[in-house]
Amino acid sequence: TDPAKIRNFCIIAHIDHGKSTLADRMLQVTGTVPDREMRAQYLDRMDIERERGITIKSQAVRMPWDVGGDSYALNMIDTPGHVDFSYEVSRSLAACEGAILLVDAAQGIEAQTLANLYLAMENDLEIIPVLNKIDLPAADPERVSREIADLIGGDPDDILKVSGKTGAGVEELLDRVVERIPAPVGNADAPARAMIFDSVYDSYRGVVTYVRMIDGRLTPREKIRMMSTGADHEALEIGVSSPEPVPSKGLSVGEVGYLITGVKDVRQSKVGDTITGKMNPAEEPLPGYTDPKPMVFSGLYPLDGSDYPILREALDKLKLSDAALQYEPETSVALGFGFRCGFLGLLHLEIISERLRREFDLDLIATAPSVIYEVTTDDGKEVTVTNPSEYPDGKIAAVREPVVKTAILAPKDYVGAIMELCQSRRGSLLGMEYLGERVELRYSMPLGEIVFDFFDHLKSRTQGYASLDYEPMGDQEADLVKVDILLQGDKVDAFSAIVHRDNAYHYGTMMAERLRKLIPRQQFEVPIQAAIGARVIARETIRAIRKDVLAKCYGGDISRKRKLLEKQKEGKKRMKMVGRVEVPQEAFIAALSGD
Ligand code: GTP
Repeated sequence: TDPAKIRNFCIIAHIDHGKSTLADRMLQVTGTVPDREMRAQYLDRMDIERERGITIKSQAVRMPWDVGGDSYALNMIDTPGHVDFSYEVSRSLAACEGAILLVDAAQGIEAQTLANLYLAMENDLEIIPVLNKIDLPAADPERVSREIADLIGGDPDDILKVSGKTGAGVEELLDRVVERIPAPVGNADAPARAMIFDSVYDSYRGVVTYVRMIDGRLTPREKIRMMSTGADHEALEIGVSSPEPVPSKGLSVGEVGYLITGVKDVRQSKVGDTITGKMNPAEEPLPGYTDPKPMVFSGLYPLDGSDYPILREALDKLKLSDAALQYEPETSVALGFGFRCGFLGLLHLEIISERLRREFDLDLIATAPSVIYEVTTDDGKEVTVTNPSEYPDGKIAAVREPVVKTAILAPKDYVGAIMELCQSRRGSLLGMEYLGERVELRYSMPLGEIVFDFFDHLKSRTQGYASLDYEPMGDQEADLVKVDILLQGDKVDAFSAIVHRDNAYHYGTMMAERLRKLIPRQQFEVPIQAAIGARVIARETIRAIRKDVLAKCYGGDISRKRKLLEKQKEGKKRMKMVGRVEVPQEAFIAALSGD
């Protein structure tokens, strides 16, 4: 295809603002999917994926569209909407020349709208603002148009109004994509350079790699090279999605398509990497490649210890389709055998634990999420800590923690409540802006504070109206300490936490109290202590038992007695020993989950 007749774009929107529904209408209006085959969320076929264990989700789809007698190829590239995947989002955006900024006409601009908009602007994309859901009675197109115009400039009357549901305005929108978004430019005669913007595992075909051709051309059967690793593969199949995969004779400048090489693991075909030809390789890779780096860590443990091998297999399997997932075996006194896992963020953690539960039928307990700390000991050693129990003993010279730039968007009535919360989480205000009835607050905040139930608190203080987004902004030194929880003098590893010195007492008393309520009495008195190093900062006591379980049954009937003994035996299986103290695993789990 002539690059002048190609338009590459994505849709950026806050969750639920109607991206999938609009994409469906575009597939239909352009005739890419015939009416009789159309179904809701055509591109979002996660349940089929799950049923058949394959990935057929389209990361990019090519649609024909005629304007003024000329035929164009529109490539719509899917972007993950969430901040956890901001690197993937930035690569998808880098594959486009323009973006449709889709805003729900009843809701207005939200935090993810802004975060994605800023990323799109950094990538120099042409932005087409669009109001969606104008069929809703609650839609307030005038107010939201003004909000958008305030944000990106331009005339509010110029903003297109569409409904993904009824299809109103969708044809005009496609015309505007052709008019406003620049055609791709690249050097057709240069050595091939294709940027990988997504890479998906399919159990039949192996990894399907989605690319945007920047320079040159790639053809099937050609030997290709991954520039970050230097690994060579053969391009077994090259094609375009429309939206079913259609093999083609090759991809040239400006085109978007897929490539299959037979590799079995997405980490051999990494998002952001540049593919070139082995025979005539490019000298320089495209800019912007980085390895996905986990930011949030948590221990995952099967509730039933015998599920450990299943958990290992499940993680091995998920890793094939998720280059960012990391894990290594870990054991815990309180929880038994499990894995320390690294995630891009909290949502990534939730997605993985949910998939382990649903697809592999595993019952899991996750330890409190932790971030990466860089600890310098007094004798100058540098230690990277992703698990509080690895925190070095002895004197510490300095600790650095990751910091994120946080953007919160909420109705302006909540400004006071939000500021109070952010200050209590060691945030410092970077800026504040009013967008009509709403306000955007920008803070720098330690990531460790955000992973610790920040979002729940934000939601409850704003009656659910606030939205949140964050991106990494380096690290900073902080006055942090490790608090250990001890049962009769023995550390319970899963409860160690790295917290700010000012919060250490609060954390210690809260955990000690929780455990006192949850751990059953023993034959002897059990002290529960919270300590920083050797210094105890809080203490609770579980008093000794007076009678044994059977005492109250003396003279009672024998079957009740047997039942009690059996119950006790069953309980035994799930008992964990901490030193001499016997603790039902349920007590640890309840203490970790906070209920
Ligand atoms: P995520 O994929 O979860 O981010 O959501 P999305 O942005 O893709 O939104 P989706 O298309 O799933 O739509 C969210 C909800 O809004 C669904 O219940 C849709 O039926 C509804 N919706 C989408 N577009 C319209 C519209 O134009 N009008 C009305 N009334 N409802 C719409």
